[in-house]
Amino acid sequence: MAAPPPRLLRYSVKLLFLSEEQLLEGLHLSHPSQKALQLEVQPREDDADMTVTDADGVCVFKCLVNKDTEYCRVGKESVLITLGYTSALLQFRSHSEYSMFSNALKNCRNQKKEHSVFNQRTEEASAAQYFQVAVHCITILSEFYGCLSQQQNMMQDFVRTATYHRAILQNHIDFQDKVVLDVGCGSGILSFFAVQAGARKVYAVEASAVAKYAEILVRSNNLGDKINVLSGKIEEISLPENVDVIISEPMGYMLFNERMLESYLHSKKWLKSNGMMFPTFSDIHLAPFSDEQLYMEHYSRANFWYQQCFYGVNLSSLRNAAVDEYFRQPIVDTFDIRILMARTVKYTVNFIEAEEEDLHRVEIPFVFQMMQSGLIHGLAFWFDVAFVGSLVTVWLSTAPTEPLTHWYQVRCLLQTPLFAKEGETLSGKVLFVANKRQSYDIQIIAVVDETGFKSGNVLDLKNPFFRYA
Ligand SMILES: C[S@@+](CC[C@H](N)C(=O)[O-])C[C@H]1O[C@@H](n2cnc3c(N)ncnc32)[C@H](O)[C@@H]1O
Repeated sequence: MAAPPPRLLRYSVKLLFLSEEQLLEGLHLSHPSQKALQLEVQPREDDADMTVTDADGVCVFKCLVNKDTEYCRVGKESVLITLGYTSALLQFRSHSEYSMFSNALKNCRNQKKEHSVFNQRTEEASAAQYFQVAVHCITILSEFYGCLSQQQNMMQDFVRTATYHRAILQNHIDFQDKVVLDVGCGSGILSFFAVQAGARKVYAVEASAVAKYAEILVRSNNLGDKINVLSGKIEEISLPENVDVIISEPMGYMLFNERMLESYLHSKKWLKSNGMMFPTFSDIHLAPFSDEQLYMEHYSRANFWYQQCFYGVNLSSLRNAAVDEYFRQPIVDTFDIRILMARTVKYTVNFIEAEEEDLHRVEIPFVFQMMQSGLIHGLAFWFDVAFVGSLVTVWLSTAPTEPLTHWYQVRCLLQTPLFAKEGETLSGKVLFVANKRQSYDIQIIAVVDETGFKSGNVLDLKNPFFRYA
């Protein structure tokens, strides 16, 4: 499918033309045109047309920006573009609008595409879908309502939001007068919590369209002097100083989905030595389960393709492919803990110590001591994160024994169930291999040691089956 055409971007700006003499003398820099003008940017792959028009639609400034164009930021929300002997100073309404414009320009000038760690590890189409931006057009679609509803969905997860609030507020001495970085701030909610706990300054970084809404919330809550919303990816933005604490909510389904943990780890380049990470570490838990109904359900779904006369067409040659496809889907839902057949095995990711590369391939070996006899249909997964503060350690758990969160739990089926008796051991490994679709390919190998019965599966975490009602 062809990429959509680049989208026209519109900003409200004030404009001032400056000669070299005026620049050297520093004259009138605080007095750009008083009337707001409209700036339109038409981005292409390697350059962009910029047109400034007044209220009557008359063009007052036009130029082409490409990799050779000289420009620089002035103050917090202005840019100076130099064309020959004249320079044009464009003042945006806010720092957030300036940074959206600046990011759009940088992308057109092809500066960041190849170099950022994020872009190296992510397909363009995946990032476009994730951050809801148009391919080849880097600006936000500010009218995309889904963004706010997605943030709302997370904010309304009471267990999640209330636990973050508690973790930050109960460790207020870690935030008092401190500089904080909020990685993927979304609505900015965690930045507000940091300010409530006494933070002196919060840099709130957000790559998606929601940055604009975070900026609106910051202004309407009169916290423009404390919270600085920076629009862009954490891998690509620049901060004016190092920070004391990094806060973030980077967990996806099965902890690893979305690969945002890597962005969280990447952000440590801005952390002072001995700085704090909220959350500090995470435990992923796994256990074998028995669930005949779930297994049969999957086969029944695939049996649609068993039909030999669907509107006169024989579908049965695709039945095996359908079974494979369904079994590749991790199942997102919750369950009664009585289906679990052994005590869990735990794997820890310590965010203070881990490097981004550690998450490119995660191997979790396991040996389960079976506590009941029966058919093992697969492995169940969930995770906890811990906020280790100076005053208290607060846990956020997505375990099936705890109140349900929007992460639910995740189950991976084995292609063939394995029979095991109480007291026998099931050993093997789960391998997570990161892919460029901001997710992981999962491989499971399991063997009942006493009988040698073996099974496994390969799953695609990017394409889970949402089974909850
Ligand atoms: C799970 S949401 C959390 C939002 C908010 N912090 C909260 O707790 O409600 C993660 C946010 O991080 C943003 N994000 C993901 N990767 C990012 C990156 N590399 N740089 C900046 N923002 C990113 C997403 O767009 C999304 O808004």
